[in-house]
Amino acid sequence: MTTAKIVYASMTGNNEEIAGILEEELQDLDVETNMSEIGFTDPSELLNYDLNFMVVYTYGEGDMPDEVADFYDDLKELKLTNKLYAVMGSGDIFYEDHFCETVDDFDKLLTEVGAIKAAPSLKINLEADSDDIEHIANVAKQVVNKYDELAK
Ligand SMILES: Cc1cc2nc3c(=O)[nH]c(=O)nc-3n(C[C@H](O)[C@H](O)[C@H](O)COP(=O)(O)O)c2cc1C
Repeated sequence: MTTAKIVYASMTGNNEEIAGILEEELQDLDVETNMSEIGFTDPSELLNYDLNFMVVYTYGEGDMPDEVADFYDDLKELKLTNKLYAVMGSGDIFYEDHFCETVDDFDKLLTEVGAIKAAPSLKINLEADSDDIEHIANVAKQVVNKYDELAK
C-alpha cells in the first residue's frame, strides 16, 4: 500500500482543516496516511513514507512561524532523493506579494533536498471553500498517479 506523510502547521485551524481534507482524499485513493503537527514532527520521518505533503501557514510579512522555521532548518540537512512531494497552505491575500510565501519556501527546499514535485503548489485564501476542496482532491490524485507511473 502506498504511504503518505502529511505535516501541517496551523495556528487558527485553517491549515489543520486543509490537512484533514487532504488526508481524507488520500485515504479515498487507498493511501495509508499519517498526519502530524509540525512542532511534534522530526523531518527525518518523511523518509519513511512514499509521498510527503506539507501544509503550512505564513506569518509576519511572509515569515515562517518559529516552529515551522525549526523544521525547515532541520529539513535542510536531509536527502529526500526521489520522494514525491506536494506543498499547500492557507494564507491571506491581504498580504499580496507575501501571500503564502511559506508554501514557496518549502517547495524550493524540498526540490533542493532531492525530492520530486508531483503537483503544483496550492495556495488557499483563509478557510478552504468548495473550489479549494476540489483543488486539494486534484493534488492528491496527481501525486498518487505520478507515484503509480514511476512504480511501473
Ligand atoms: C500577524 C499575522 C501575519 C500574517 N502574515 C501573513 C503573510 O505574510 N502571508 C500570508 O499569506 N498570510 C499571512 N497571515 C494570514 C495567515 O497565514 C492565515 O490567516 C492562515 O489562514 C492562518 O492559518 P491557520 O488558521 O492554519 O493558522 C498572517 C496572519 C497574522 C495573524
